[in-house]
Amino acid sequence: MVTASDAPSAAPGEAGSRTLACRRAASNEEIQAYYAIRKKFFVDDQGLFEASDVEPIDHDPRTIHIVAVCSPPGDVIGVVRCYPGADGVWFGGRLAVLQEYRASRLVVGRALVRTAEEMVREQGVKIFLGHIQLPTVRFFEHIGWVKVGDPQEYAGRLHQLMRPGWSRKPRLR
Ligand SMILES: CC(C)(COP(=O)(O)OP(=O)(O)OC[C@H]1O[C@@H](n2cnc3c(N)ncnc32)[C@H](O)[C@@H]1OP(=O)(O)O)[C@@H](O)C(=O)NCCC(=O)NCCS
Repeated sequence: MVTASDAPSAAPGEAGSRTLACRRAASNEEIQAYYAIRKKFFVDDQGLFEASDVEPIDHDPRTIHIVAVCSPPGDVIGVVRCYPGADGVWFGGRLAVLQEYRASRLVVGRALVRTAEEMVREQGVKIFLGHIQLPTVRFFEHIGWVKVGDPQEYAGRLHQLMRPGWSRKPRLR
C-alpha cells in the first residue's frame, strides 16, 4: 500500500492533515465508487466508451481494482486497474484522479501507479504495460515509464504503449 500526506510535518490523522491510502477496493461502497469514477472520466467526460466501460476482464478474479482513499473523510478520489493479458503479461489502465485532487500534495496519480506496480510485482509479473493516451505520456515519463514502439489505435484512439523501467520489454507483434 502506498500512503502520502498533504501535511508532511503533521502526524497522519492530526487535525488539518489529510492522508492518502491506495489499496485494492474492498467494500461494496468502494467498488461502487471505483466504477463511478471510471464512468465519469472514460464514458461521460472522454466519450471513450458509449454507455459503460466495464469489460469482461473486470469480472476476472485475477483483475485488481485499486482505489485511492483520502482521509478524512475517507472518500475514494482516484482509481486504477491491473489485469492479466496473454503469456504472463499484465496491463495497467483506467487511471483517473478526481479533478479537485489532481496535482495536489497527495500526488494521487503517482501513488496509484506505484501501488499497481507493487501489486503486480508481488505476483512475480515481469512484463507490465499500459496503453497510455497521448496527452498522458509525459506524466508517465515523469514517473519513470518508457515508450514501447509507436503509438497505436486502442479503443478507437491513438495510445502509446508504455512500461515502467523495471518491466522487461515485450515482444511486439
Ligand atoms: C494523469 C492523472 C492521473 C495524473 O494524476 P495527478 O494526481 O494529477 O498526478 P500526480 O499529482 O501524482 O503527479 C505526479 C507528478 O507528475 C506530474 N504530472 C502530473 N500530470 C502531468 C502531466 N500531464 N504531464 C507531465 N507531468 C505531470 C506532477 O507535476 C508530479 O510531478 P512531481 O513529481 O515533480 O511533483 C490525472 O491528471 C487524471 O486523472 N487525468 C484524467 C484521466 C486520464 O487522462 N487518465 C489517463 C488515461 S491513460
